[in-house]
Amino acid sequence: MYVCICNAVTEDAVHQCLAHGARNSKEVKERTGMKPGCGSCTKRLCAMVSEWRTASELMDAMTGGPAALQAVTSETTDVPPLTVEVGADQDRRVEEAA
Ligand code: FES
Repeated sequence: MYVCICNAVTEDAVHQCLAHGARNSKEVKERTGMKPGCGSCTKRLCAMVSEWRTASELMDAMTGGPAALQAVTSETTDVPPLTVEVGADQDRRVEEAA
């Protein structure tokens, strides 16, 4: 669905801008190339930015904030492979299912 008919900017385009770091309607307008027009999209665009920020802040509060990036070093690549032990109960369930 179009958010701005004058500039043919869709909701998907606005969401992509927000997902890639735009933090306010001005940044969304710059990134989507929205030029001044009739102005009837301003209220909808501001609401979308507000909804995105609220959802983003809620997600950060629930998860403890954005995950910190961790550098990959030679120490982190020497992690032994994960092994899974299959117990006798699991073997029996596999046989029963067959
Ligand atoms: S609908 Fe966006 S400027 Fe007209």
